[in-house]
Amino acid sequence: MQIIISHVNTDFDALASMLAAKKLYPNAKLVVSDKQNAAVNQFLAIYRDSIDLIQDHLIDWSDVTELILVDVASLERTGNYANELNTENVQITVYDHHPPQDDDVKSLNGSIELVGATVTLLIEEIRKRSLPVSSFEATVFGLGIYTDTGSFTYSNTTSRDLAAASFLMDQGMNLEIIQRFSDQMLFQQQQEIFNQLLLQSTEYEMDGLNIIVSSYQQKKFQGGLSTLTRKLLETTGADAVLTIVEMQKRVYIVGRASSDRINFLPLVTEWGGGGHEKAASATLKKVDLDAVVPQVISKLEQILKPAITARVIMASPVKSIPPEMTIEEAANLMYRYGHTGFPIVKDDELVGIISRRDLDKATHHGLGHAPVKAYMSSKVISIHPDTSLEEIQTIMIKHDVGRLPVVDQGKLVGILSRTNVIEILHNQALKEDLQQSAINELHNNLRAKMKNQLPEAVFQLLKEIGTTATNSNTSVFLIGGIVRDIILGRPNDDIDIVVEGDGIGFSHQLVKDYGGEVKTHEDFGTATWTHPTGLKIDITSSRLEYYDHPAALPDVEHSTLKEDLYRRDFTINAMAICLDQKKFGHLVDPFQGKTHLEEKTIKVLYNLSFIEDPTRILRAARFETRFQFSMDDHTKELALISIDKMKALSATRINHELEKLFTEDYPSQALKRLFELQFWQQFGIQGSHLTQCFTHGQRLEEFYKNKHSYKTLDQKPSWFMYFLIPFYYENDLKGAQRFALTKKDNKLLKEISDLKAQDPWKHSSDMGELHQLLKPYSAESIVFFITNELRDDERVLNYLQARENLPTYLTGEDLKNSGLKPGPLFSSVLLDLEIAVLNDQVQTKEQAFKWLHEKIK
Ligand code: CTP
Repeated sequence: MQIIISHVNTDFDALASMLAAKKLYPNAKLVVSDKQNAAVNQFLAIYRDSIDLIQDHLIDWSDVTELILVDVASLERTGNYANELNTENVQITVYDHHPPQDDDVKSLNGSIELVGATVTLLIEEIRKRSLPVSSFEATVFGLGIYTDTGSFTYSNTTSRDLAAASFLMDQGMNLEIIQRFSDQMLFQQQQEIFNQLLLQSTEYEMDGLNIIVSSYQQKKFQGGLSTLTRKLLETTGADAVLTIVEMQKRVYIVGRASSDRINFLPLVTEWGGGGHEKAASATLKKVDLDAVVPQVISKLEQILKPAITARVIMASPVKSIPPEMTIEEAANLMYRYGHTGFPIVKDDELVGIISRRDLDKATHHGLGHAPVKAYMSSKVISIHPDTSLEEIQTIMIKHDVGRLPVVDQGKLVGILSRTNVIEILHNQALKEDLQQSAINELHNNLRAKMKNQLPEAVFQLLKEIGTTATNSNTSVFLIGGIVRDIILGRPNDDIDIVVEGDGIGFSHQLVKDYGGEVKTHEDFGTATWTHPTGLKIDITSSRLEYYDHPAALPDVEHSTLKEDLYRRDFTINAMAICLDQKKFGHLVDPFQGKTHLEEKTIKVLYNLSFIEDPTRILRAARFETRFQFSMDDHTKELALISIDKMKALSATRINHELEKLFTEDYPSQALKRLFELQFWQQFGIQGSHLTQCFTHGQRLEEFYKNKHSYKTLDQKPSWFMYFLIPFYYENDLKGAQRFALTKKDNKLLKEISDLKAQDPWKHSSDMGELHQLLKPYSAESIVFFITNELRDDERVLNYLQARENLPTYLTGEDLKNSGLKPGPLFSSVLLDLEIAVLNDQVQTKEQAFKWLHEKIK
């Protein structure tokens, strides 16, 4: 059995498309649900007998072999049919004009195209097959087209809809009927709801757009909410209207918009709804109106597409004139440039504007020698670069001005004329292009993130750097780890910038502009600028090839930054943010670093990366543990085939990286990862003790986290403790010797080696004995052993605690006063006293003195 169905709340396009589909599939049954929109309901009340419709509950769904879906592509939106169908054995054909969505059925038959009405697609097919169309059919099809295109006024209308309507005209489409049903007058009950919605509406002014949200609740179901919403849009003149109505325990959300900057889809799809960008709806079950309304309001921002702003459409730079220029000179200039007006600027500030008409008049009255300032309009209406196209139109209409200077922080940065605006409004392709670049710009502009995240002083400083860059015609970029961290929302105060051109010269310019000091390294073309606030900025020059090919400047300019980024370690570290005034905050991301951040992937930029710099393998492990990311398969493979290069590196370089790695948050995870990357294996450590090493590392982490109150311990284990773990289990502490470069590390290594060899606590039974043996050892090396899973840690732990809190009952002075001569004897007596205290034989100062006298005797 073949079935033709459409979406619930059947509208005219759905009904028309079903009837048109029936012409292509004459044996199919037309199935409707009980729910039609109000106008369709009215229409069917008169014409039901003319259309062979079957109610859905009369169909045996197990017999269905072929399904023709019209004006819908998702089974979910056809009501309850979807549940009853065994779709696996059913062939599905789709005719639809809605933008594709995730839950759409996959079908190779039919046609899905973004025309104004679905029925247009079917009429085209009917015409192709030269099928006859009756006057009644033409009228129903026409209703579909007229209602879905708002009588050809909605922006979804295409020439194909008009061509289809023209064809229908020839087939006898009845316009009177069309007008009667498409005008969609409100019925009495609808009128009541409409009045309520109008009363309950709240206006939101967002980014130059006026959005109305209106909610209402009634027990009885009343159809036609989409008509009501559209009427509300027309009546209020808003850019968008969202109605939220609760009826019969369901909440209906309907959105209608007149502005191209609205897209309801992200909002309604969250609730399983659908439709078009500017006309969409969703039905919510088992929810309260009171809960839904605030949710919708909180998500309003999601429906806004970024504005086309003055910044992208203005003419810049602007030809301006000084106030003292004579009328005659100004008129000559105006004719030369063919402009119709000039802004007048004094000390960089906009002070007035003069039009060609004013100049002509003044000349006519023989005032050619007077300065323009005498005849300029000094009350200039200007706009900010962020003003949206919508606001610009409003301002031009309200003030009846055809020329708007664009001013940023008092400075004239551009100018916009009526012609610019009209050009965009009447060139849909240009408008869409600008819209798309506004969307890209929004995604790639990190200005807001920078402002929120960076300390105010740093943000201001970066802006200052941008100003100097713009004034000196250079481009400057924030680069490296800080860019990654701005995107991730993590703090980072390492400010590295790269100058396209001469970094050293630029650093001197910064000192001239803002003070501070600069240290330069001529050989490398780098400098460090210390701002008067103490902030330090590292400055590098991008490629010196820059100077080699002056003729190819613009191209080279661009590629130098890209080259600089390409030489870096990972894509997530190869991004830059432009600081130039006009493009401040713009992300330069030629290698998909941002995507890889979202995908949590660490990826090298070129295959030789690890060979050239094997420390990058340790950096990769560091970023893996820090961000809980992982290398992609290819990068991991490259790491494995390059790891043997690690052996050729100096201990200093390896230590430098390991120190960073093991002071990150999950050092034991990193320790384990280095086994997987064959790092330890390069130094003779095989993987057989991996589990023990990992557990030891974790216990060490835990110990410091919970018991860092030990006075003699640092806040965190030193990186060298983690480093020694694998050597310890491999019985090869000697192998670690070449990495013990500092006194502190040497001491730790020696103590751990001694303790391991002597195993002092094995034979000691009481605290005193433990003290006798462990006194020379630092708490750090003792903790290394306590956290070793093979040890009986309680006893040593108690000892360490007691040792930390050991009271000093007697001093060297006391010993002297008791007649003892200073010398090695002193420390031996004091050690004995500590043993006595630890064994509870001495508990007070008096007892200590008594103990001393006994001893002397
Ligand atoms: N870099 C590199 N290869 C290295 C070291 C550094 O390509 N072996 C590049 C990376 O692009 C890195 C930048 O130099 O982003 C700055 O290095 P550094 O400050 O060491 O690293 P960060 O990425 O800032 O990391 P962290 O947050 O740990 O400081």
